[in-house]
Amino acid sequence: MVAKKDKFYITTPIYYVNDKPHIGHAYTMIAADVLARRNRMKGADVFFLTGTDEHGAKIETAAKKVGQSPQEFVDEVSAKFQLAADCLNISNTGFIRTTDKTHINAVEDVLMKLQEKGFIYKGKYEGLYCEGCEQFKTESQLVDGKCPDHQVEPKLLKEESYFFKLSQFQDELREKIEKDEFKISPIERKNEILSFLTHEKLQDVAISRKNVKWGIPLPFDKEYTTYVWVEALMNYTTGIGMSSDEDKFANYWPCDVQLMAKDILRVHATIWPAMLLALKLPLPKHLFIHGFWTVDGQKMSKSLNNSVDPIEMSCKYTTDAFRYYLMREVTFGNDGDFSESRLAEKYGSDLAGGLGNLVNRVLSMTEKYFESKVPKAKLKDGVMKELADVWKKYDQAIDDIQFAEALKSIWQLIDFANKFIDDAKPWALAKTDQKKLGEVLYNLIEILQQLGYLLYPFMPDTAEKIGHKIGIHTLSDLSKNGKLIAQGSVVEKGDLLFGKLR
Ligand code: MSP
Repeated sequence: MVAKKDKFYITTPIYYVNDKPHIGHAYTMIAADVLARRNRMKGADVFFLTGTDEHGAKIETAAKKVGQSPQEFVDEVSAKFQLAADCLNISNTGFIRTTDKTHINAVEDVLMKLQEKGFIYKGKYEGLYCEGCEQFKTESQLVDGKCPDHQVEPKLLKEESYFFKLSQFQDELREKIEKDEFKISPIERKNEILSFLTHEKLQDVAISRKNVKWGIPLPFDKEYTTYVWVEALMNYTTGIGMSSDEDKFANYWPCDVQLMAKDILRVHATIWPAMLLALKLPLPKHLFIHGFWTVDGQKMSKSLNNSVDPIEMSCKYTTDAFRYYLMREVTFGNDGDFSESRLAEKYGSDLAGGLGNLVNRVLSMTEKYFESKVPKAKLKDGVMKELADVWKKYDQAIDDIQFAEALKSIWQLIDFANKFIDDAKPWALAKTDQKKLGEVLYNLIEILQQLGYLLYPFMPDTAEKIGHKIGIHTLSDLSKNGKLIAQGSVVEKGDLLFGKLR
């Protein structure tokens, strides 16, 4: 019998298509991509889902503004998100659009089930609604009467609506979050939700809209469309086959990690798990909540026209340099401030100067002193010890979803290798001790191989280029790690990994 592979299911939020992608969207996709690639390297059967959230009042309004039908509009903007994902080298296995027929059918099934099980009732809604958030707001969430995220006064909505009995799940949710059965990280975010669930009363949530045409009609009352958050949250199940491919769904459910920023934590810690509990489905194992990027100290907004285009950044600085900067610059979970000059600086110091220079140095010397052939020698104890230390820190950091820490351990190895060269002085050994010189270069080439493995989840192109230069083509498969580079095989210096910026 073939043992079943471990599975790893990771998601990003699905993005609103009222505007083109910016670095905030890129950030979550890149973070998820690092974990997806890393788990694939370890041999897991990975499903990585991202996509676009295409229904609701906000999209209806945005389409109207540019004189397009909602469908034309969402097709265009969703394509921009898919292009951004490609350009950022995101290895997602699924891209869900909430206008996909399979999603719509599955949402109808879910709503029918919730209705049949008695979790839905009809009532009257009267309250404040922020179209920017597509969310109902309580007075306590407003600042000076305005939604703090969108700086607009929410609209007073009074309409008949269907409700989902969210309130009855309050205690169960609190308990599961407390016990980490439904884990929320970092700890401050967990505490924030626990405090909310302890001090405020969960209200039942209106799940339908009467005056929004651009949405999925409720299967049991076509006069209404489904509240956009209810169907959007279900994407995490419909995107892996719920109601369309039950084997696939059974294989991947529940999510292992869900990444998102703090703006949408509350819905993900209340309505989302409550619907799953109502459907008797296991809850996601772990929500990791990251911070918010500002740009040069300011919030990205349409009115300031200051949102940073990830495609432009990737073209200008390379995709890998952009990925590196975002993952290295801030502790995952904290807020960050994007500055292009800082990205350029990191390109010069860490990438061209640190990593690129090391690779170039080692391969130039191999070319010069050994006609590009890997010399015969053994791994030194000191190098083995350093590698073990780096891998230990790296593995721990990735397990903790701490990307900057993982990258720091890689740069520890780069610094080690540079110091190793400076101490050993190969240029002097070339005149005096050919055997020792071979030993030094052999050890350095092995370090380059390890750097390839370590870098692959973060900077896949760069890792592959390093692999190519040293004749290793399996850097995306950790099971091949540990195999030493064949002595006598040929390396190729080739171009600089990070050339001069234009
Ligand atoms: N459509 C909803 C999510 C539904 S998920 C079932 C939505 N869309 S969004 O387009 O506004 O995306 C929000 C998410 O994009 C954040 O949670 C985060 O993952 C990412 N980011 C958007 N702006 C961001 C920053 N400025 N900084 C960091 N991440 C941000 O909410």
